Parts: sequence; C-alpha cells; structure tokens
Amino acid sequence: MVSPNPLVGSVVVKDGVVVGSGYHRYDELKHAEVWALEEAGSLARGSSVYVNLEPCSHQGSGKRTPPCVKALIDARVGRVVASMFDPNPRVNGSGFEQLRAAGIEVETGLLETEARRLNEKYAKFVTTGLPFVHLKVASSLDGCIATVSGESKWITGESARNASQALRHQYDAILIGIGTALADDPILTDRTGLQRRRPLTRVVLDSNLRLSPESQLVRTAAVNPLLIFTAKSTGNHDRLRLVQAGAEVVGVDSSDGRLDLKAVLTELGKRELASLIVEGGAEVAGSFVSQNLVDKFTFFIAPKILGGKRSHPSIGGEGFQRLTDAVVLHDVVTLHHNEDIELTGYSRRNLHRDLY
Ligand SMILES: NC(=O)c1ccc[n+]([C@@H]2O[C@H](COP(=O)([O-])OP(=O)(O)OC[C@H]3O[C@@H](n4cnc5c(N)ncnc54)[C@H](OP(=O)(O)O)[C@@H]3O)[C@@H](O)[C@H]2O)c1
Repeated sequence: MVSPNPLVGSVVVKDGVVVGSGYHRYDELKHAEVWALEEAGSLARGSSVYVNLEPCSHQGSGKRTPPCVKALIDARVGRVVASMFDPNPRVNGSGFEQLRAAGIEVETGLLETEARRLNEKYAKFVTTGLPFVHLKVASSLDGCIATVSGESKWITGESARNASQALRHQYDAILIGIGTALADDPILTDRTGLQRRRPLTRVVLDSNLRLSPESQLVRTAAVNPLLIFTAKSTGNHDRLRLVQAGAEVVGVDSSDGRLDLKAVLTELGKRELASLIVEGGAEVAGSFVSQNLVDKFTFFIAPKILGGKRSHPSIGGEGFQRLTDAVVLHDVVTLHHNEDIELTGYSRRNLHRDLY
C-alpha cells in the first residue's frame, strides 16, 4: 500500500504504557511518528518513541510531508528507539544526528534484522533506483517446471498456489518471458482480493512481439497495466496493434534474442516500480540468475517427479561448470503447504546483499 515509500510503524510509550501509535499511509501527509505523537498529545513529553526506521530529517518530495525529526523535537520526547538507519541517501544518519543534537537519547539496532527484511524492497529501490527482484518458481522434486510436453498447470497444490498469490500481492510488478506467455496464456493478476494502492504491472519480455492481441494479457491491458519489452529494432506495425489494445511497448537493447535485463530493470525503476516478482519461465529465470540480478528466491516444491531429460528445468541458461560457482542461498526459511514445501532465501552473490 505504500510502495515506493517504506513501511513504518511507531509507538509512543510513557511510564511503560502505550499512549500513542501510528503507521505510514501513503495518501496521508503525516508519517507514522506524527500520527503516534498526535495520539499521545501532551503525554508525548518525556516519552520513549519506538519506530522501525530512522525518523526522516528532510521535507518529503513535493513538500508532501514535514520532517518527523522536527515533530519529535517539538513534542520534547525523551528517547527514540529506532531499529535501523534509513538507507535513503537524503537521511542515512542525519535524522539520528539531529535528534541527538536536540538532547534526545537515541538507541538503534532493536530488531534490526526484522526491520531490514520488512523494508528490503524500499532499501534496494531508494539506493539504486532499481526494483528489488524476487524469483519465484514452482517445481517438482526433481527441479522441473513443466513436463516433456510443456504442461505446468498445476505442479503444486492449492495451498501453495494461494501462498504464491499472497507473495504476488506484495510486488509492484510481475515479469515473464514470451515462452511462458505463449505456452500458458496467463493473466498474471493479483487475485488475493486484498486492496492495492497501485495495480500490479504485468511485464513480458518479447524481442519479436510474438504476444497475441488475443492473449489474456493483452485483452485485459486496458484495466491491468501491461508493459511489453521488445528489441529496439522491432517494427512499428507490430507495436501498434498491442498499443491500441492498451499495452505499453518499450524498446531496449538486445543481443542474441536476449533483451538487456539491466535496461529493463532501469525502465521499471523510472516508473517507480520498486519491486518485481519474476515468475519464469526457465530461460528468463536463467538469465536473471546468471547475471546475479535476483535479490530473493522462493521455490515451491511439490513431492512429484516429472523425470525425463527433455522436461523443463526450473533455471535454464548455460548453468555453472563448477559447484563452487553455484548460487548459494542464505537465511533460508522453509514452510509447508500440505505436502508442498516453500523455500525462501537470499543470494550471496547479489551485489546489493548488504542492504537487507
Ligand atoms: N512451474 C513454474 O513455476 C513455471 C513458471 C513459468 C513458466 N513455466 C513453464 O515454462 C515454460 C516456458 O519457459 P521458457 O524457458 O520456454 O520460456 P520463458 O523463459 O518464459 O521465455 C523465454 C523467451 O523470452 C524471451 N526473452 C527476451 N529477453 C530474454 C532474456 N534476457 N532472457 C531470457 N529470455 C528472454 C526470448 O524470446 P524472444 O527472443 O522471442 O524474445 C526467450 O526465448 C512453459 O512450459 C511454462 O509452462 C513454469
């Protein structure tokens, strides 16, 4: 609901009692701390204020929001306990400095790991201008995402698929390759029924604009944003029919039928899409993995064996020659959905791994 802003919540405590609380809502001008201070009223004086992110020290863009640091100083709070520094280069420590200079005690690091995870998308976006990339795969026990004939619906059970939808809900954009679009004719909408501030932007990598105007993606483009990346050299005639149907077509550099993924991510960042879930297929997943562009991985694994050397592996491309080259996940969490397993972790090879 707040992307590309951070998720922030705050609690004001006086003599061991919660006297105010608040959280950031994008459409309201006030930040979490200000809501909490207003609720606390005069009890804010001398209180401890708990917040998961460093209070901001700058006027929000377009003068949307006054700095929270000023509100905390004006309310004469006694102590601020913040989980983490704000990675935003416009803040990064200056909020804490200003509070300390005003005589307010500042403590940092409480539940820092949880706080960093909560705002991992924001941290990547605000420091790089690129979306946080989460690769999601549904595979069999032997690592296949489709049978020899290309059948992939459904490898996992209903409960895992619901969890996958819940994951989708947390992202600003969702991306697939044209191979998947042609094989499955997916619609790629957020079907959780939960409220969103912005609709989920659907993204397809399609160098030669093979996506059919009759596809579910294009037929729903007037209501659900559809962004098709193609090679710069692709003709205008092909673009026109998709644009007329409501899709946006963007040309980027390409080589050997592979679009430049960094250019794709940069374009998404320019549109303030702070997070991206990549849902396949194998070739697209292989490109993201081999270029170390994945921040977070989730594999839904079903206890099924598809077998066969012509089945589709979950991660395509050239693969790695040596075990020491393999992508190793850390901070791995596993969940169970009936007999299916959900495994999530972060890549050690990612350039931005220190951010979250
Ligand atoms: N179980 C699952 O989780 C799951 C999820 C998704 C898909 N699937 C299955 O996966 C199969 C499709 O996978 P796929 O590997 O054939 O197709 P894909 O990865 O969806 O699409 C590959 C195509 O995307 C285009 N592309 C453009 N830029 C690219 C880049 N930088 N890197 C990679 N590809 C790029 C290329 O076609 P152009 O050159 O024409 O642009 C390429 O051939 C289907 O059977 C589908 O059912 C399973």
